[in-house]
Amino acid sequence: MVNEDEEWIESPTGWGTKEDGRENNDGGGLPDLFASDDPKEYFTYRIRVDGTTSISVLLQGFKLDSEETYRSTGVTLWQAAPRLADYLQNHPEACRGKSVLELGAGLGLCGIAAHYSGAKIVIMTDGDTQTLRRLRENVRHNCVEVGEASITESNAIECRQLIWGSPHMEKFLAEHGQFDTVIGADVIYTQDSVQPLLDTVVCMLKKPHGQFVLSRFCKWNNVNDEFVIEAAYLRCLDCTRPSEGIYVFRWNDNRTAEK
Ligand SMILES: C[S@@+](CC[C@H](N)C(=O)[O-])C[C@H]1O[C@@H](n2cnc3c(N)ncnc32)[C@H](O)[C@@H]1O
Repeated sequence: MVNEDEEWIESPTGWGTKEDGRENNDGGGLPDLFASDDPKEYFTYRIRVDGTTSISVLLQGFKLDSEETYRSTGVTLWQAAPRLADYLQNHPEACRGKSVLELGAGLGLCGIAAHYSGAKIVIMTDGDTQTLRRLRENVRHNCVEVGEASITESNAIECRQLIWGSPHMEKFLAEHGQFDTVIGADVIYTQDSVQPLLDTVVCMLKKPHGQFVLSRFCKWNNVNDEFVIEAAYLRCLDCTRPSEGIYVFRWNDNRTAEK
């Protein structure tokens, strides 16, 4: 199959230097004789498949302080992801029988949780080319290889490239249509990313009943909740906070009429 992804690395020059990370983590300057040079890291998470069975999801990625993560934040697992996966497992109505789009999917935990929560179709997306490679491997390992026979038209799972904002979102919309549920974990960490991310949410969400479930753990670069909620409000999305770090945005039809 031809790979149609456009080469796009989230931060080609890195979010910082690896040396900065080492200075913070090296225990005060003494070399760690037991430190491993292997930048890879494996993450596990248990997912309930039905009332009685659970499976262990194994994701392959890279350590937080690796060169790979400095360029592409999606190749490691962020704390907002297990939090969103927990939420989806505890609120199966968000996914069961629904079409689900994941933005900034990273290693893929949340989309995989949506898949096992009974989504009709999950399309997991990321802009970053390195991340997409890892994402596809993880989905293949945890979904396709685990249950080839179970990947049918009624519970499909796919990985695609989607860079937030125009012109990518319009092209993606034309190809895939709109979704019942859009999800994203730790996808807001710079002020600049808020606008293209929310524009993409509005573009891809079915109206009036679609919902966007966002998980945040750390408030990087001082992008506070009020800023995000206000930017969403201006796009006719109203926010509720059902649990710590989870934000559910729903389309408010009345405000479209007010505009
Ligand atoms: C901090 S990581 C979070 C990854 C994953 N959701 C998690 O919680 O582990 C942010 C993700 O958003 C993606 N991303 C950032 N800016 C993007 C953009 N403009 N378009 C598409 N993806 C983007 C990154 O490639 C990365 O995978």
